[in-house]
Amino acid sequence: MKGIILAGGLGSRLKPLTLVTNKHLLPVYDRPMIYYPIQCMVNAGIKDILIVTGGEHAGDFLKLLKNGKQLGVHHLEYAYQEGEGGIADALKLAEEFADGGKICVILGDNIIEKNVRRAAGDFFTQRSGAKILLKQVPDPQRFGVVRFESDGGPGSKIIEIIEKPQNPSSDYAVTGLYFYDNDVFEICRTLKPSARGELEITDVNNAYMARGDLTHDILDGWWTDAGTFESLYRAAQFVAEGGANHVGEGSKTPSLFAART
Ligand code: DAU
Repeated sequence: MKGIILAGGLGSRLKPLTLVTNKHLLPVYDRPMIYYPIQCMVNAGIKDILIVTGGEHAGDFLKLLKNGKQLGVHHLEYAYQEGEGGIADALKLAEEFADGGKICVILGDNIIEKNVRRAAGDFFTQRSGAKILLKQVPDPQRFGVVRFESDGGPGSKIIEIIEKPQNPSSDYAVTGLYFYDNDVFEICRTLKPSARGELEITDVNNAYMARGDLTHDILDGWWTDAGTFESLYRAAQFVAEGGANHVGEGSKTPSLFAART
């Protein structure tokens, strides 16, 4: 399975930091943000990776990552997203790279503590469709949030996903780690921009749900995004206090936490 990291967008919520660099190159404790999703994929055994980025500082990804070998990537490609058309707009650029196969997608500002190898393996044996990973959060209004059948909780079927609801019907957020079969590109072509003018990944997931082809699991360990000042700060704290799945497990990147992990 190939991996796609979406690191486009303008990072407007982190201005002025993002006036001079791309959001995903900002530090999260001891390394650039983009290292975390890369290492998450590599640790799960996904080593053929496309990074979709954009903006004025896109060239800096190449300077930093080169061919990705130092992070354990076997093959690294880059794609350039014009503007900020949304997560599903960025994903469209991966169609050729995906080459008809299943894909794992991670948002470039998501940091995941534990190895996601099991979820990747489960999706590999899933006949078709999509798989999303959920996490209980104290602030669901900031995320895509699921509604379960008869409000039955995480063991029940998902009947709706709502992007940034004012009155969330659960506190289970959809994390930025997604698995899709190749129909995802067909679905992306049918999307219309949302009220915020973006092609929403939540609409993609709802399309799979409507087909009855969406599975879900609960993500183990801590998870955070890092796209606001608060979450960027919290991400650094999580990493500083507990490390993240980026250390050991095949990483050649030395870690300050090597002794602890
Ligand atoms: O972090 C998980 C959440 O991410 C999900 O719960 C939401 O359903 C999903 O919509 C997304 O919400 P955000 O509003 O936090 O997404 P944001 O606009 O911050 O974009 C997240 C990453 O996606 C960003 O770091 C890079 C990538 N992206 C985003 C946009 C808008 C792109 O590659 N291109 C884009 O045009």
